[in-house]
Amino acid sequence: MMHLEVFRTVPEATHRMADLLAAQLEERPGSVLGLATGATPIPVYREIVARVKAGRMNDWSRVTTFNLDEYVGLSGEDPHSFTAFMRLHLFEPLHLAPERTFMPPATGEELEKRVRAYDEQIHVAGGIDWQLLGIGRNGHIGFNEPGTPLDSPTHITDLTESTRVANASWFGDDAGQVPRQAVTMGLATIMRSGTIVLAAFGGNKAAALRRAFAGEITPALPASILQRHPHVFVIADEQAAALLP
Ligand code: GLP
Repeated sequence: MMHLEVFRTVPEATHRMADLLAAQLEERPGSVLGLATGATPIPVYREIVARVKAGRMNDWSRVTTFNLDEYVGLSGEDPHSFTAFMRLHLFEPLHLAPERTFMPPATGEELEKRVRAYDEQIHVAGGIDWQLLGIGRNGHIGFNEPGTPLDSPTHITDLTESTRVANASWFGDDAGQVPRQAVTMGLATIMRSGTIVLAAFGGNKAAALRRAFAGEITPALPASILQRHPHVFVIADEQAAALLP
């Protein structure tokens, strides 16, 4: 069941997302949250940090988080890593205990084996209650690129050229600097989340959003699998929603 909500501005949309999360934490202060990186969640994280600091949202001391994805080969010390992104925008401002913030393993020995264990770690933590998602211009969620099997677990994936170009702005506008591989929660991993909140802002997401929610369910557009999820909120601004029926 998909609930589409369209807002005139990004700040209005981010307020709504923070409201949804606040309600989740009110009901379950020990929630397991699935978190995303990219430009889209930055204003959401800013709003969350402001609310927690002002006592307008439950503190996160009992929350556990699992991130969607990480670039293969980048350690948490690398400022381009999603681990560094999360520390900067959320984990440090909220003083989250490192043992409660999980990132997909992306460096070191026996990587494939540890990547496969990520879904089990999520399971042991109780499963993801509430998952935040963005969407790629090619319809990816996490780094599940077009062609990813709809039943995929957490896995290592090759990034498409278009994704490396889309993310070049984080690497000094040089797509060649964007890692070629990433570890991502699979589509099956994401689909096991209790509630999913997908945010899409800006006209460059409009085509992907239309194909995801008004087209057929197909591996060619990975986000389309969300049509089968019982509890998805799609939070969009008017530009991103422009092509939806
Ligand atoms: C990134 C991430 C996704 C994100 C998407 C859109 O590369 N792997 O999790 O949702 O691409 O990113 P942005 O919000 O910057 O447009």
